[in-house]
Amino acid sequence: MMKKNQGCMQRVVVLLVLMGVSGPVAAADAEKGRVLHDKACAACHASRFGGDASRIYTRPDHKKKSKQEVAAMVAFCSQNLGTQWFDEEVADVTEYLNKNFYKYP
Ligand code: HEC
Repeated sequence: MMKKNQGCMQRVVVLLVLMGVSGPVAAADAEKGRVLHDKACAACHASRFGGDASRIYTRPDHKKKSKQEVAAMVAFCSQNLGTQWFDEEVADVTEYLNKNFYKYP
């Protein structure tokens, strides 16, 4: 029993260390962003663009013309929706959208 608990604590410590190392300094994570985006944002966009959630970003007359504008829109929409995303999560979603659709430098 004691041994099992120790193993568990060790894993918690390792996790905390990893989070400490990779947390604030890590680059935005597009894969995490994809998961967040698919959960909170994709269905509504898809419903307005013939079932294709990516078209809102890739249509020739899309509105957001820079990575900053995309980031601002992600922050605005996530706040409006009440997602309670952290800044890191807003950055992850922005990274996902830019990497896959907008491709701004
Ligand atoms: C209830 C519907 C709805 C939800 C939910 C929604 N959006 Fe949107 N979003 C829209 C509509 C409609 C537009 C297009 C507005 C326009 O064309 O001016 C849009 C546009 C955008 C654009 C700009 C696309 C362009 O033209 O470049 C971004 C970026 C965006 N949304 C991000 C998000 C993110 C991130 C979320 C989730 C946190 C989200 N949206 C949730 C309806 C929604």
